[in-house]
Amino acid sequence: MARPKIALIGGGQICGVLAQLCALRELGDTVLFDIVENMPQGKTLDLAEASPVDGFDVSVTGTNDYKDIAGANIVIVTAGLPRKPGMSRDDLIGVNSKIMTQVSEGIKQYAPDSFVIIISNPLDAMVTLCQKITGFPPERVMGQAGVLDSARFAAFIAWELGVSVKDVTAMTLGGHGDTMVPLVRYASVNGIPVMELLEQKYGSTAKAEEVMTAMVERTKAAGGEVVKLLGNGSAFYSPASSAIAMAEAILRDQKRVLPVCALLDGEFGVDGFYVGVPCILGAGGIEKIIEFKLDATEQALMDNSVAAVKELVGSMNL
Ligand code: APR
Repeated sequence: MARPKIALIGGGQICGVLAQLCALRELGDTVLFDIVENMPQGKTLDLAEASPVDGFDVSVTGTNDYKDIAGANIVIVTAGLPRKPGMSRDDLIGVNSKIMTQVSEGIKQYAPDSFVIIISNPLDAMVTLCQKITGFPPERVMGQAGVLDSARFAAFIAWELGVSVKDVTAMTLGGHGDTMVPLVRYASVNGIPVMELLEQKYGSTAKAEEVMTAMVERTKAAGGEVVKLLGNGSAFYSPASSAIAMAEAILRDQKRVLPVCALLDGEFGVDGFYVGVPCILGAGGIEKIIEFKLDATEQALMDNSVAAVKELVGSMNL
């Protein structure tokens, strides 16, 4: 049986890590596309030459021709500029929507049956654009944001409490921007509410709330924190790992419940917009959007985030 095929569009920082993860986990034969001549060929040759050491048999190749993504089962898109210190993700919309238009046309023509995972920013707008141009059904076009935002939230909780990251469950909803909604009420360590553990640690509800608020704010600003430290470019390890978790869930039909930027059809009171919500990811792509009850505060935060997404998407005049 043929191996699955994965196409990575945009051969920069994130893409290099994506390709390495695809190879190390033997997810499938991987093709890396970029408009820069020779660079994707060079990057993948370097990676492929590590195969005897790492012991992977999947192929990893580079290209400047969309024809080579033909037959891809999954396409992951990172094409586009990353932000510089001081920029918001939304500042990238002008230049990246032109790039996303070209990329989406390439995918539509050469990989019409693929599942598409977008990473390029501003995420919520770029996914919307890709779905409009490809015309693919919404269960096949999704954005990676929530897995990463949730991972950041979980990491901060684990570090604060001195517990394994493996035992922390944390989730963010909403857009991939400053208005994202880290869900405090559902954050737990192996089912034990994080707020309860913070209260035990500090012996005070007020202090526990203060510490939690700081972690929530750090989560919302976490991408910018990395951008500022790097000085040139934006996060690449964690976005790549997050998108690979989504791709693996689809390729291996894992039915994972992950926060995904998905096109909503009335769920959470949102109609016709891409917003981060928990979904079941399996062989059918987004197999189900999981709707659950938010309390009044959470719903207000969600509404605020959705309003920001609507404004951003509206600015593209699609
Ligand atoms: N088609 C394909 N690739 C393109 C195009 C295009 N039209 N235009 C630019 N690229 C490529 C660039 O040549 C570059 O190799 O996209 C790649 C982007 O790589 P980096 O600049 O290293 O950016 P990266 O850190 O990988 O982030 C990519 O993901 O998280 C988001 O905000 C981030 O939008 C940015 C994207």
